[in-house]
Amino acid sequence: MTTKIERICPQSLAEAKEIIKQGGVVAMPTETVYGLGGNAFDDNAVKKIFEIKGRPSNNPLIAHVHLDYDLSKIIDYDPPYAQKLREAFLPGPLTLVYPSKNRVSPFVSCGLDTLAVRIPSHAGAQAFLKEVDIPIVAPSANISKHVSPTSAKHVFDDFNGKIPLILDGGECEGGIESTVLDITGEIPLILRPGLITREMIVKVVGACEEYIPDLEKDEKVKSPGVLYQHYTPRCQAFRFASERVKDAKNHINQELEKNKKVAVLCERELVKEFENNGVAVLDLGNTPAEMAARLYGLLREAEDICELLIAVEPKEQNGVMTGVLNRLRRACQEVEIKQN
Ligand code: TXA
Ligand code: MG
Repeated sequence: MTTKIERICPQSLAEAKEIIKQGGVVAMPTETVYGLGGNAFDDNAVKKIFEIKGRPSNNPLIAHVHLDYDLSKIIDYDPPYAQKLREAFLPGPLTLVYPSKNRVSPFVSCGLDTLAVRIPSHAGAQAFLKEVDIPIVAPSANISKHVSPTSAKHVFDDFNGKIPLILDGGECEGGIESTVLDITGEIPLILRPGLITREMIVKVVGACEEYIPDLEKDEKVKSPGVLYQHYTPRCQAFRFASERVKDAKNHINQELEKNKKVAVLCERELVKEFENNGVAVLDLGNTPAEMAARLYGLLREAEDICELLIAVEPKEQNGVMTGVLNRLRRACQEVEIKQN
């Protein structure tokens, strides 16, 4: 199969619709990352998505719909505070997990009696979802556990020959996946942090909690996706806490002496600390939004240019950075250095 990359236009949208109607999958842009989309009502299309990605079969998918889609077709109950959340944040990078059973293919939610629904704000995503006018399930368009894609080229690099069409909507502005918010309880619960932060949700509905998975008792884990190692570049990747710049430098020097190709990933104000040291410096940026937008592209660049990536965590750890650090920590292992 040849994989075409096409800018979003009436012809490519018509082509995408035809592929979806035939039970195929199409990659689409969103404001967060690219998704690998298929018809949520079609068992075979949903199974195909799991297969192509190599995704564990107990990790549920998000259904994407356009702004005017009638949600009552796919959810069982609309919790009282959900309307406020939709008004405040949608369309946008917030996925709401509703009570829902037997509304779409049973493979979508992997046996859970909930459905994650997302209304993306990306104009190209909206155009595609309007064109097909059905819920499109779409996980991030990367091979399972690899770094999520923020450009059509990233999708192509992972799925060339495996899917017929990538709708190209440019670089994703958000850069990390949507906040996943369980709204089945009295208080909303963040299952995956993202650009819509806990503080922002509290402002709208008064309360919001963050789910901390208990890895010991994983049979009751609410959001299976949070368990997996994820976002990993195809090179060795280690990280140091923000206050351990010196340790990071020592570690880099030791590795350079072994003739390893090393790159360092850090926030802009640290770039000068690492420059001219024999390492490639990947500049994460200054603001939390910038760091979110640049993270995945840089992790993918790292795998092309080095054998070892050393990431230094940014100082800011709250708000949007909660989501950025969540991804960075799962992409890079912590290094324990013995103090001499
Ligand atoms: O920004 C995004 O959300 C991107 C774009 C393409 O929309 N999509 C995305 O999908 O990140 P994926 O499949 O890579 O991540 C979906 C996350 C997983 O952590 C999964 O466990 C969780 O959402 N999830 C999906 N359905 C769920 C459900 N019914 N209950 C709890 N968690 C759910
Ligand atoms: Mg993903």
